[in-house]
Amino acid sequence: MRMVDLIEKKRDGYELTKEEIQFMIEGFTSGDIPDYQMSAFSMAVFFKGMTKEERVHLTQAMVESGDQIDLSGIEGIKVDKHSTGGVGDTTTLVLAPLVASVGVPVAKMSGRGLGHTGGTIDKLESVEGFHVEITNDEFTHLVNTNKVAVIGQSANLTPADKKLYALRDVTATVDSIPLIASSIMSKKIAAGADTIVLDVKTGSGAFMKSLDDAKDLAQTMVDIGNGVGRKTKAIISDMSQPLGFAVGNALEVKEAIDTLKGEGPEDLHELCLTLGSHMVVLSGKAENDSQAREMLEDSMKNGKALEAFKTFLGAQGGDASVVDEPAKLPTASYQISVPAKTSGFVAEITAEEIGIAAMMLGAGRVTKDSVIDLAVGVVLNKKVGDKVQEGEALATIHSNQENVDEVMEKINAAYRLTGEKVDKPTLIYTEIH
Ligand code: URA
Ligand code: CA
Repeated sequence: MRMVDLIEKKRDGYELTKEEIQFMIEGFTSGDIPDYQMSAFSMAVFFKGMTKEERVHLTQAMVESGDQIDLSGIEGIKVDKHSTGGVGDTTTLVLAPLVASVGVPVAKMSGRGLGHTGGTIDKLESVEGFHVEITNDEFTHLVNTNKVAVIGQSANLTPADKKLYALRDVTATVDSIPLIASSIMSKKIAAGADTIVLDVKTGSGAFMKSLDDAKDLAQTMVDIGNGVGRKTKAIISDMSQPLGFAVGNALEVKEAIDTLKGEGPEDLHELCLTLGSHMVVLSGKAENDSQAREMLEDSMKNGKALEAFKTFLGAQGGDASVVDEPAKLPTASYQISVPAKTSGFVAEITAEEIGIAAMMLGAGRVTKDSVIDLAVGVVLNKKVGDKVQEGEALATIHSNQENVDEVMEKINAAYRLTGEKVDKPTLIYTEIH
């Protein structure tokens, strides 16, 4: 087999076989197939797409390029969740203990990565002592005992994807739905879950700006998951503003605690119940969404969800008393209001800009080696649809530096106000099976 023939075949719109795709991914991972040929191939996919079978073969080949996590020692049907991007998305922090509290095993592999805030692990590390450096055996034991544990990402998970994503980034081939879908799904499948719930974001703050593209991506990922024998469902949710109020690491942990008590921001609360219900149904712990939702709501009300969070934090070395005393979480030295320049109704909050504001304060990583300030971030006081008076606080900056003029400008620019009344945006557009 020669790579040049495979590039030509895709360029001319033909379908590649499983063997051809395996040959290509193995060769690329080992370095036998050079970057320039893989770049040309990616561009051919960008223009010609891939069939449903090709996408499954590509995903499977990337899964097999590295470690595959074996969760067979964990009892029950393991469910994983993935959200495509978004800003201040606190859902994982809430969902892991929430669904665990009704008996669904959550064996979560998580990363740090670059972004506006840290990843799930960074956020959890706002809790003194919490760590994810546990062995695979401890991980299995903890999930069997407490139904939830988080472990750091294996360094050798889907190396083919890592290499290909870096190449796509510099060859203008990121925005290809088959390539995005196989990239995301390969990581989820290699991480070992039996079933997967996907939260695909759409709107100004999302990867997929239009609803049609989001639906297309969701369907493509669902077909891949089901195609490799992992039951997969997706929902499409709104990102025309950040989710919840808090964007920052410790700030989001605090928000997660409120949400586990049933006292979280309305949109975050609703999204967690929707995603959580799908997870509970897929794991076989409830027959339908309404039964699952009731179980989760009960768990918030009777304190079991919060208890599960405490147990989880404590089991991985964390100071679980922060759950009852959130004031023990890292706190920024300054809390500075961002006053509205005019009166009106909030029409839009560009999530991306709020994310950048949080990053400017030090909440996220600019490079792989940046050190995150866990205490800082932005808390939104006003959301889309809210009425605002001139001078009233749109948001509150939590900062460890006194001068936040630039951050304030950024937040002001993220808010678009209008004279007319604005409806709250739709939170969940549709489900994809
Ligand atoms: N996120 C990924 O993991 N892969 C992509 O290709 C795009 C977004
Ligand atoms: Ca949030």
